[in-house]
This record gives sequence, structure tokens and C-alpha cells, in this order.
Amino acid sequence: MTYNRAQRFIYPFGNGDLALDMDAYTLDCSQYASQHALEIAIHDQWHEKGLVVLVNTGMQHLSELERWSAIIYQDFNAYEGGAAPRSKWSDAVYSIDDTPPHIDMGYHNEGCYLSVSPRCLVLGSMDCPKTGGWTLASDNEVTTDELLKTDIGQKLQKHGVRYVRNMTDKHGDNTIVHKHWQDTFLTESREDVERYVLAEGWDHQWMPDGILRTSYWADAFEYNEKLGKNLFFANLANHGLFFDQWHPFNTLLDEERPHTMLVGDGTPFTEEDIATIYAINNKASLGLRWQDADVALIDNERWSHARPAYAIQPGEARVMGVTTGMLKKRVGSRF
Ligand SMILES: [Fe+2]
Repeated sequence: MTYNRAQRFIYPFGNGDLALDMDAYTLDCSQYASQHALEIAIHDQWHEKGLVVLVNTGMQHLSELERWSAIIYQDFNAYEGGAAPRSKWSDAVYSIDDTPPHIDMGYHNEGCYLSVSPRCLVLGSMDCPKTGGWTLASDNEVTTDELLKTDIGQKLQKHGVRYVRNMTDKHGDNTIVHKHWQDTFLTESREDVERYVLAEGWDHQWMPDGILRTSYWADAFEYNEKLGKNLFFANLANHGLFFDQWHPFNTLLDEERPHTMLVGDGTPFTEEDIATIYAINNKASLGLRWQDADVALIDNERWSHARPAYAIQPGEARVMGVTTGMLKKRVGSRF
């Protein structure tokens, strides 16, 4: 049996029209006389716009993303506590192709559900389908302004959000597996996990079938020093509806799915809330139309990102990697 919402939220990306153009954020690496000149341009644009798309990088392997990332940051994140399954291209470069293509990944800010989250993510492409497979990026300053005009925006500002996560046991016999707690916390030890969740102030529960359920509150906004503003930092990609299109997770109730979200006062997001947040996402977004060896440096606070479902044709592939870093201990909202 599939658990159905009254309304199905298949395409969380507005009407598909994009307000911004990627070209306004693109630097062509082949046009710079030296690597030094290119790096100065990258830094300038990073500070001004928080988004730098690089084309004609000459990248041969996704492990080279470490070198491109290092122009902006060197403190690479090990993805401890991360919610998505991830395989790796190198020590710091993770695959982002572990979620099936037919799943819409809604807008989100990387690691927004953790107390320490990356200020920057760097995405790179080595292969992409002829159509689709884009990443969308949305100007979070615009999204935040629009959201705060709505009831759900005000509610989130007042109450924050609650994240509920269910992680299976690698050595258990669960048949519906998204991510094991051992892979989330990079340990085999329950004691290590308990130390982590205690330090974070998370509620946790070991379920009879070995599943670890955590539940914790977080501010839905994050103060951005550069802009001097609170920015929305809790999009709906971590809500149980992420699994609505994904069998067999869609046979589970929201609270049993690998992750879901509540408003911080414990009330569920209504379907109207979800529709409102989705409608706002595309107010200022652009499509990263990946070509081979493209790289994008994205400020994780100033921009949220998403990946609509896509289809692979015979002979095509989508091969992408990501690094995250420039770690920041979250401060939440400031008034
Ligand atoms: Fe992401």
C-alpha cells in the first residue's frame, strides 16, 4: 500500500520558468591569461554573488574538484551526520548520483539539519544527459523575503523546525533501507552515536528492529554576515514527501520514512504550507545546464539548490561530484 497525501507534489519547481540566467554567473576559464587571474575573478565573484559557474575547466576526473574547491576553502567536510547515501570519488569528493533519477530533489541548503553546516559546496560534472539533469539554484535572499510574507514563513520564524530521522542497522534485517546509522555517523559503535547525539542535544531512540530514530529542533533561518540578514535555511527536501515518488519508502508513513520534518511547535506542515514553500522556490532561480567538466561554486546560505527528476537515454550518463566545506557552526536567526 502506498501512503498518499490528498494532493500529490510531483514537481516542486514552480511552473518550470527560470527567472535568472546562468550566463550572468559564468566565467570561461579559457579566457584568462593565467590561473592567478582566474582565481582573482573567482574570488571577486564569490564575494559579490555567492555563485560562480566555471566552464572550460579542462577537468579530467572528479577528484580534481578538490583543487577547484581549494581556491575558496581547504576545510573539506567528511559528511558525518549527513542524511543522503553517498559514495566517493576521492577523499573529499562525493558522488551526488545515489538518488534515483526519477526522484525530484527539492530545494535545500546542504547540511541545514546539522549544527555545523558548510558555507560552500562545489559541484562538478564529468558527463550529463543531452536534456535534463540540471541543478537549479535559487537566490535565497529573494526566497526568504517572499517566505516571510506568508503565514508558514512567520510560523517557521517563530517556531523553527523539527527534524525526524530513521536510520537502519547495517547488521539488521530491515528490507527498506535508505541509510544505515553506521554510515551516517561513520562508526560501528552505538556508544559513539550516543556521544554524538548527546553532544548535539538530539532526542534519540533505539527501535526494536535496530533502527535509530532521532528527533531534534533547529532554527529555520540562519544569519548571514555578508548580507546582514537572516536567510531561510530549512527547505522541504528533508520532509517525508521527498519519498512520495520512491518505492518502497512511499509505503511508509511520514514519521517512519528515512527523514521528515515538522514545524518546530510539533505540528505537521499542511499541504497548503508545502504548496506555498514550493511556489516561492522559483522566484529567483536559474538552471545549471551542465556540460562536461563544468564546475559551480555555490554559497550554501545565499543560494539553495535542487535537482528535478530527469531521464537517461541509452548511452547517456550523469556523472557528478561534490565537495562541501568552509564549515560554520550555525548561529540561527539574529534580530
Ligand atoms: Fe544538495
